[in-house]
Amino acid sequence: MKYAVSFAALVAGAVSQATFEPADFNVTEALLDNGVNVSAIPELAPLAERSLLSGCSIAVSTRLYDLSSKLTNRQCNSLKLIFGDDQVETRSESAYSAFVGAYWSAQQRQLSPQCVFKPKKALDISTSILLARLTQCPFAAKSGGHSAVAGGSNIEGGITISFENMSKTTVSSDKKSVSFEPGQTWYDVYTALEKDNVTIIGGRVSRIGAYHEYGLACDNVLAYELVTASGLIINVSEKSFPDLYWALRGGGNNFGLVTKFTVNAIPRAPTMWGGMRTHLPTNFTALTKAYYNLGMNANKDGKAHQILSFGWGRPNLGPVAQLELEYSDPVADAPVLAEYNSIKGAIADGTGVKSLSTLTSILAGPATGNGLRQGFWTWTTTLDLEMANTARDIFFEELPSIMDAAAIIPALSLQVITEPIIEQSAKRGGNPLGLDPKEGPLMLALVSLKWSDPADDERLNTFARRVQDRSSAAAKAAGKMNDYLYMNYASPYQNVVAGYGAANQAKLKTISKKYDPTGVFETLQPGYFKLDGTPSGEF
Ligand SMILES: Cc1cc2nc3c(=O)[nH]c(=O)nc-3n(C[C@H](O)[C@H](O)[C@H](O)COP(=O)(O)OP(=O)(O)OC[C@H]3O[C@@H](n4cnc5c(N)ncnc54)[C@H](O)[C@@H]3O)c2cc1C
Ligand SMILES: *[C@@H]1O[C@H](CO)[C@@H](O)[C@H](O)[C@H]1NC(C)=O
Ligand SMILES: *[C@@H]1O[C@H](CO)[C@@H](O)[C@H](O)[C@H]1NC(C)=O
Ligand SMILES: *[C@@H]1O[C@H](CO)[C@@H](O)[C@H](O)[C@H]1NC(C)=O
Ligand SMILES: *[C@@H]1O[C@H](CO)[C@@H](O)[C@H](O)[C@H]1NC(C)=O
Ligand SMILES: *[C@@H]1O[C@H](CO)[C@@H](O)[C@H](O)[C@H]1NC(C)=O
Ligand SMILES: *[C@@H]1O[C@H](CO)[C@@H](O)[C@H](O)[C@H]1NC(C)=O
Repeated sequence: MKYAVSFAALVAGAVSQATFEPADFNVTEALLDNGVNVSAIPELAPLAERSLLSGCSIAVSTRLYDLSSKLTNRQCNSLKLIFGDDQVETRSESAYSAFVGAYWSAQQRQLSPQCVFKPKKALDISTSILLARLTQCPFAAKSGGHSAVAGGSNIEGGITISFENMSKTTVSSDKKSVSFEPGQTWYDVYTALEKDNVTIIGGRVSRIGAYHEYGLACDNVLAYELVTASGLIINVSEKSFPDLYWALRGGGNNFGLVTKFTVNAIPRAPTMWGGMRTHLPTNFTALTKAYYNLGMNANKDGKAHQILSFGWGRPNLGPVAQLELEYSDPVADAPVLAEYNSIKGAIADGTGVKSLSTLTSILAGPATGNGLRQGFWTWTTTLDLEMANTARDIFFEELPSIMDAAAIIPALSLQVITEPIIEQSAKRGGNPLGLDPKEGPLMLALVSLKWSDPADDERLNTFARRVQDRSSAAAKAAGKMNDYLYMNYASPYQNVVAGYGAANQAKLKTISKKYDPTGVFETLQPGYFKLDGTPSGEF
């Protein structure tokens, strides 16, 4: 009852934002508001008296893992007591192994959380965050589980909160907006929307979780339902919490756990054009030029989307280019794609008119590489033909040094952050990414690697880092470097938030202090890109 009252007050915006979490905030009382009486749970009763003492965190920092896992165990047992066995998987259960074994990257599969918690609604998440504060046991949150950052969405010895049982999608009656929960892939969301003839701006690969667009899909989010550090469930929009809304559009997992997104719906035909083509080196120059020109022409027709990737065709094809093209209408020969379409000689061509959900499935390709070790590195320059050619040449120059690594699948992917995309960023109060329309379209480069042997980690990271360093050095020399790093593509050795610029970084920290004064989402949830530093130190 008490909970219902405070929730209503917040939705109405009646809570004082200046003291979002009072200094004397009492976790035990907040849990009581959620209907959880800590004193009545034998394993937690001894903790009821305290509000913010350290338990697990002290244990972990002094490497007393025994104590740490005992405390975490208490929390797992308490979760079972409160929510039932169905919603909590512990290490001895087969559902636990199935869960951990389903992460995209080997690095995340290697982590063993103490238990996996599967909330069904925002209030469950609120309770689990408050319990984590009470026991000071660390947690991670998993949506699609495709982060390439080890510990990004799984946690050794902590609690992994999985959104898999929160996966509703609803279209508003006027069809102007769509609400969806985070526990589903873009394929699920697109499929659910197809019958209503609407879509939303999301990711391109079907298996990827719906929370992957920290980047630019964020500019189409109208509201985030967010569970805060003090367990409050609030509806964050430009009107209700403008500063927090700004921070969520690029600030990563540092401000709360999102339990629902409300986004703009876009009317659409049931089908669109797109697919993949594979080309040989004879076409590399022409493809790179077409990539550049399409990026420069985005002002004329924003319906086209491209990813130009370079890699290695196995078993003995050698260097290949893989081009992914989409046009958001079911038009096979859009004039803006004429230059690309004039490049004949593709050795495979899967383009055609298809449904968006089919397209995202096709673009995902066969599940090759799922469960391998994964590495991403990214950088950004001004969109420039010479920079694109240089990056491609450096990638192929460095490649021989790693081709003997077991199961290696290397790629360099070039995308464009177009001028219209950057202009969209300014809508509804802007975002923290630090992109400036005056800098013109940008080239977003990603080196991605898959491999199987941990003994190769070091040299493969060295390879990616070298390609990035050499390309960046060329860009700097030409005055074309940009500090922005796309969070979804960054390596755990890159400092994403610093790349947003000092002013944006400082503002994000101020907003975090206001809504999460004790730093729950930065310290108790240690994984992924925090507001300071890199996830894995220096490389
Ligand atoms: C094959 C492939 C294709 C890709 N294509 C694209 C693409 O087209 N566009 C693009 O932008 N990126 C793309 N990516 C990158 C992808 O967006 C990132 O890896 C992204 O982090 C994956 O999201 P997820 O939900 O699957 O990840 P998860 O690992 O589940 O989560 C990533 C991070 O988000 C946090 N998080 C998860 N759920 C929540 C929540 N509800 N509230 C708050 N924080 C939460 C987690 O703590 C974690 O740190 C691709 C990656 C792969 C592997
Ligand atoms: C909480 O549980 C304790 C122990 O069972 C009990 O004494 C107390 O009255 C309960 N508090 C509330 C608010 O129900
Ligand atoms: C928090 O609230 C509980 C329950 O009301 C109380 O027993 C406890 O003393 C409080 N803790 C602090 C630190 O005030
Ligand atoms: C959660 O969803 C899975 C499918 O992803 C289903 O098998 C399971 O029964 C659900 N669990 C609960 C507790 O609802
Ligand atoms: C969606 O569009 C198709 C084809 O244009 C049409 O037949 C169908 O009735 C539409 N569905 C809805 C729910 O509007
Ligand atoms: C949250 O805010 C959005 C945007 O203002 C609104 O459309 C939505 O109805 C709100 N949700 C709730 C639960 O109040
Ligand atoms: C593309 O490559 C093919 C041979 O693989 C060649 O015939 C054709 O001229 C090339 N086209 C361009 C525009 O480079």
